[in-house]
Amino acid sequence: MSISYVNGRYVPHREASVHIEDRGFQFADAVYEVFALQGGRLIDEEGHLDRLERSLGELAIARPMSRAALKLVMRQLLRANRIAYGSLYLQISRGVAPRDFAAPQGLTPTLVMTVMRQKPFDPQAALKGARVITAPDIRWKRCDIKTVQLLAGVMCKTAAHEQGAAEAWLLDTDGFVTEGSSSNAWIVTADGELITRHTDHAILGGVTRKTVIKLAGQNNLKYVERTFSLDEAKAAREAFTTSSTVMVRPVTHIDDTQIGDGACGPFCRNVIELYGAYMKQDAPT
Ligand code: PDD
Repeated sequence: MSISYVNGRYVPHREASVHIEDRGFQFADAVYEVFALQGGRLIDEEGHLDRLERSLGELAIARPMSRAALKLVMRQLLRANRIAYGSLYLQISRGVAPRDFAAPQGLTPTLVMTVMRQKPFDPQAALKGARVITAPDIRWKRCDIKTVQLLAGVMCKTAAHEQGAAEAWLLDTDGFVTEGSSSNAWIVTADGELITRHTDHAILGGVTRKTVIKLAGQNNLKYVERTFSLDEAKAAREAFTTSSTVMVRPVTHIDDTQIGDGACGPFCRNVIELYGAYMKQDAPT
């Protein structure tokens, strides 16, 4: 059985709980991060911690501890679980208070962490693509903050699974793809350019997205950050998604339209290989 962390205590997972008036529970007044774990290393740990601090800052939620202390707790939790492959989930809520929309000052934030075991990333298995459906992006206007207010994503991802697809790509009112319900969206143009939407308040700035951009730059792959429409995506040579949980996943179909020849293409294969190699090198814990 796994061990979880709750406000200073390492506890058996089934006993891990927070108060019913935690503002994360009542208002989704909380932020989170998901770190991929490969070979005992937390992938892009600093990038996730940077984003966590930004999310906390945007909502004026207090930090429960320093960054160095947070990193120590994360390592302690990995050790307690003897886990080397999977993910670490970290959530910080504003804290516990009698229910009131107005956020009280000076609360002690709630910090919880859990781990999940998974198989090591297998670049060969990652080549197997998946279908995505599309859905209107009904989320709020601050998707750049990684909050636990995820109901729109839950609804869209559930609809995708019900339709035998792996993910839902979300469309803004002008027909542009914003991102996936829990991943960033990419296409490859006929000219071999990697395209992913620019970051602003409409999408989450994915840490995996950022790393793929960095790897593309280092490996002379052309990339552009801009909006792309559903029509452009359906006519694309290739498409794929990125996130800390799926890493890089080829998209074979968008709705009922086959993308390229309906299998992982050479550009996406290249990105999978580069990302796989990157995860093997990323700084040890
Ligand atoms: N989700 N966009 C959304 C809406 C997301 O929820 C995620 C990640 C991403 C990709 O971000 P990153 O590369 O930093 O993981 C993009 C995580 C994995 C989750 O909620 O489980």
